[in-house]
Amino acid sequence: MSGKLVVVSNRIPTGDTPSGGLVVALHGALEQSGGLWVGAHPDTAGPGDTGLTEIDRGSYTRLAFHLSEAEYDSYYLGFANSVLWPLCHGRADLVELERSYEEGYMAVNRRVARLLADKIEPDDTVWVHDYHFLPLAGELRKLGVSARIGYFLHIPFPPLSALSTLPSPDDFADWLASYNLIGLQTRRDTARCLEMFRSDPRAEFMTDGTVKFQDRVVSVRSFPIGIEVDRFAEAAATPTDAADLGADMGEQLVIGVDRLDYSKGLPNRFRAFGEYLDRKPEDAPRASLLQVAPPTRERVAAYRAIRAELEEIAGRLNGAHSELDWTPIRYIHHAVDRDLLAVLYRRAEACLVTSLADGMNLVAKEYVAAQDPEDPGVLILSRFAGAGEDMTEALLVNPYDVSEMAEAIATALSMPLEERKRRHAACLRVVRDSDVSGWAQRFVDCLRNCVPTLAYDG
Ligand code: G6P
Repeated sequence: MSGKLVVVSNRIPTGDTPSGGLVVALHGALEQSGGLWVGAHPDTAGPGDTGLTEIDRGSYTRLAFHLSEAEYDSYYLGFANSVLWPLCHGRADLVELERSYEEGYMAVNRRVARLLADKIEPDDTVWVHDYHFLPLAGELRKLGVSARIGYFLHIPFPPLSALSTLPSPDDFADWLASYNLIGLQTRRDTARCLEMFRSDPRAEFMTDGTVKFQDRVVSVRSFPIGIEVDRFAEAAATPTDAADLGADMGEQLVIGVDRLDYSKGLPNRFRAFGEYLDRKPEDAPRASLLQVAPPTRERVAAYRAIRAELEEIAGRLNGAHSELDWTPIRYIHHAVDRDLLAVLYRRAEACLVTSLADGMNLVAKEYVAAQDPEDPGVLILSRFAGAGEDMTEALLVNPYDVSEMAEAIATALSMPLEERKRRHAACLRVVRDSDVSGWAQRFVDCLRNCVPTLAYDG
């Protein structure tokens, strides 16, 4: 019988009944196994190294470590979001190489490992999430932890050439090899990860498909993440005023929902919508773009720059196209309640997901789940979002090609019902197959079946 499930992620669920796909997906396993979830305390103004604090009592234990301001700057804003994030999203030009970032990142990972080590029993299963904790398994192993440890990277796996941008490029493979299982979003990510190991003289490929790396053995597989499909579909069908937004004026609605991140391709999306308006036939209905783009990581310069760029484009396009009773781009720079979003998705005739790079992109899946199957809207989806690998019946676009996206908007807004239904049904099958509850179960089962650590001795 397996022990408890221990989950580690930078963001920790808060509140008495936390929501969100990952949280709900892991809830059952955590509750049944008496498990625990460890993450960074949401309050970063704390004193730093003070151990683990229990937060928000729920049906399983949630423990938070405190970051000092200096650690927040070096570990979170620095190495995680100014080195690893741009590197994994194909923006090596935005990587900020500062020795203090790397030192802070390693120090936080070492400290979290120390805080966690004596809470882990050999038969426990540890599941580490995302790029904030790449070295965590290695640090836990140094402290004698032999439990199975799995890792899931929610963002794209970097191509081999990008890894050379890191201060110590060889560390990446070494960090990952301390896990028993590496989970990635897509087959493309898995291929990139295997390419990294293939090019590393320390790695050897075993006949069962695992990678032997010095004295360790690791499996690499893709587990495309999904959403809570039924909950989302239900929320979308709940009647509210928002369900009629602009409909009384015969207006077509195109929706976009993204954290305001340079990886989301927002400037080109706005330009494409502007080009669509320029070319739109006189008799086509009025169309507006509703863009929800809440702020994120605003202390990083690249995020301030993308906000300024986007607001400049929105202002220019609205100046050129607005009429007295209509504004073509409604840009909302704050978060919108998830249930309201679901309703807005269902109202929108089309959704634009135009990421230049994206691990999966759950907005694409949420939009599909929210549609009325009898009268569905059309998903316009970047070829560079992980979701594009399986959702091939979306209107796939190149997010660097503004004119192609403008044409896709025109195609979506005039698509006949039968074609919309056919494409939607195909996309919905993909969304259902990756429902987040099955996703979590598949990962944990696979991890529990992995060769235990220390099976290969040197
Ligand atoms: C992406 C990452 C997550 C992260 C989220 C929000 O989805 O994969 O790990 O939590 O962005 O970013 P933030 O920096 O606000 O946690």
